[in-house]
Amino acid sequence: MKTMEYHNPVLLKESVDGLNVKPDGVYVDVTFGGGGHSKEILSRLNENGKLFAFDQDADALENALSDSRFTLIHENFRYIKRFLRFHGVKKVDGILADFGVSSHQFDVAERGFSTRFEADLDMRMNQKNKLSAYHVINDYDELQLKNVLAQYGELRAAPAMAKLIVEYRETESIVTSEQLKNVLAKFLPPRHANKVLAQIYQAIRIEVNQEIEVLKEFLQQTPELLDDGGRLSFISYHSLEDRLVKRFIRNGLFEGEPERDMYGNFEVPLKKVNGLIVPSKEEIKLNNRARSAKLRLAEKK
Ligand SMILES: C[S@@+](CC[C@H](N)C(=O)[O-])C[C@H]1O[C@@H](n2cnc3c(N)ncnc32)[C@H](O)[C@@H]1O
Repeated sequence: MKTMEYHNPVLLKESVDGLNVKPDGVYVDVTFGGGGHSKEILSRLNENGKLFAFDQDADALENALSDSRFTLIHENFRYIKRFLRFHGVKKVDGILADFGVSSHQFDVAERGFSTRFEADLDMRMNQKNKLSAYHVINDYDELQLKNVLAQYGELRAAPAMAKLIVEYRETESIVTSEQLKNVLAKFLPPRHANKVLAQIYQAIRIEVNQEIEVLKEFLQQTPELLDDGGRLSFISYHSLEDRLVKRFIRNGLFEGEPERDMYGNFEVPLKKVNGLIVPSKEEIKLNNRARSAKLRLAEKK
């Protein structure tokens, strides 16, 4: 499998520039995918530098780079601290994350991520996880379904959608994406069908992969892992994700205000570097998947 077919890296130069790579530093790419960002980081390291990468999807392992400075860890990045420790690493000089789903995951119909294909309801990034889109759609009660669709899909019709799904399930299970589309057909008028369907899929995917909880757990571990002056470079693809990243960089928290020290200054572990960075028009023209990308950078104080 060739890397460029697997995934075309987004904001490649900007995100790796943002790490301010020290040639002999230790770096982590927590979303390895096709390895586009990892290769760029490696190209900036000397023979003493090290790169650790994470991916929870077994398919990504085929792209592992054969380079003695590189280690690929087949785990969820919510356990970043634990697995870096396992490899003898307590502090790093930078962490890059390119959140979300790879083109490969979207393009393989059976994975169930894409609204373009008919497939069984799945959407698991880690094929070994028990929770799949099938379970969310068939086992969640009406309130749970409503909350998923409302919170993660920002769908106003979430209560009515949840009710319809639960009613339909009494006759038969909803196994395929086609069935789900038929059940929700009245919420998919031709003019808006793609947009609404994308929101429904986003909601289910976030729930299946527990993306919000995972992101919070991951973010909370990063300040402790960074050496002084170490950098974070994070690319988000939807507003829920970006909001958490932004708040965490600003406040070290997801809600409310940070505590003040004895002098009345806010105690925050990170400081932001530059403002929000988005892909150029040229990049979006060449790679449509870049269109919603938002890059934020931060440095350990
Ligand atoms: C957008 S792709 C990254 C593409 C990569 N930057 C490249 O250039 O090819 C996101 C990847 O991160 C992985 N991923 C997403 N969430 C993860 C998590 N919580 N733990 C480990 N891997 C995750 C996905 O399986 C996917 O392969």
